Amino acid sequence: MSPDPTATRELVQIVPGRPTQDGAGVKLDRYLTPRWYASADPFLLLDRFHSERGEDYAGGFPPHPHRGFETVTYLLAGRMRHGDDQGNRGDLGPGSVQWMTAARGIVHEETPQQQDGLLWGYQLWVNLPASEKMGPPAYQDIDAARIPEVQLPGGTRVRVIAGELDGRRGPVRPRPTEPLYLDVQLAPGGRFSHRVPQGHTVLLVQVEGESLVGAKAAALRAHQVALLGPAGDVVVGAGPAQARFLVIAGRPLREPVAHHGPFVMNTDAEIAAAIDDYQAGRLSRPERL
Ligand code: FE2
Repeated sequence: MSPDPTATRELVQIVPGRPTQDGAGVKLDRYLTPRWYASADPFLLLDRFHSERGEDYAGGFPPHPHRGFETVTYLLAGRMRHGDDQGNRGDLGPGSVQWMTAARGIVHEETPQQQDGLLWGYQLWVNLPASEKMGPPAYQDIDAARIPEVQLPGGTRVRVIAGELDGRRGPVRPRPTEPLYLDVQLAPGGRFSHRVPQGHTVLLVQVEGESLVGAKAAALRAHQVALLGPAGDVVVGAGPAQARFLVIAGRPLREPVAHHGPFVMNTDAEIAAAIDDYQAGRLSRPERL
């Protein structure tokens, strides 16, 4: 029996966050990993970094490679500088987004631009289809002012980063996974409803406050991440306090995944080739970093 397209998407699973470190000792909470891919396709990884202590992030992410997918960084507080071997330079401030298509290969570094104070953001890995994994790399650095904010009835405000809402289109260029990336702020008692194509994967990332998800009003608390059901409208309400959450959705690719560290391909042979290429200096042009 196929899912009812008129249904409300209910909360299917809370994705637990686990504290870990990456880069040069940056402390973060990792939610998705590629082990979740069967449920989260096309999303491979989701990290949240949130600290006011410079020692938790000062080392940043020294030069490292990626191949086969896209990395998406949304910064809520603090500053991060980006440099890569394709000659791209970026300086992310609060509310800005970086959408980096690693494809056949990028080596980049990400460096916090502060000694102390709140650094808060999210990094998402979005898979690429086999046909684009070895395509040309690309980079989009999106200043906060370029992200449209839609005002909806009831005091709801939505920043449209990728995809479309209420006739407003986010600045992220069209991608093969047709991503939707919204930052939604609900006033107390407010409500948000949005149709996402049937079969697309939907993640809710609770940024602040508590949300009530679906017809069953399942509670999603601050810093929790949830996977929703496969069909119908995304419906989220706020309780007596305001709530803020990210809606991240995309078209599943349904292709095999082979993963090793910063490389995500379709077969083990392609992973071995990525490692060979990186070690032989063929993956990148580090002299341009
Ligand atoms: Fe990276």
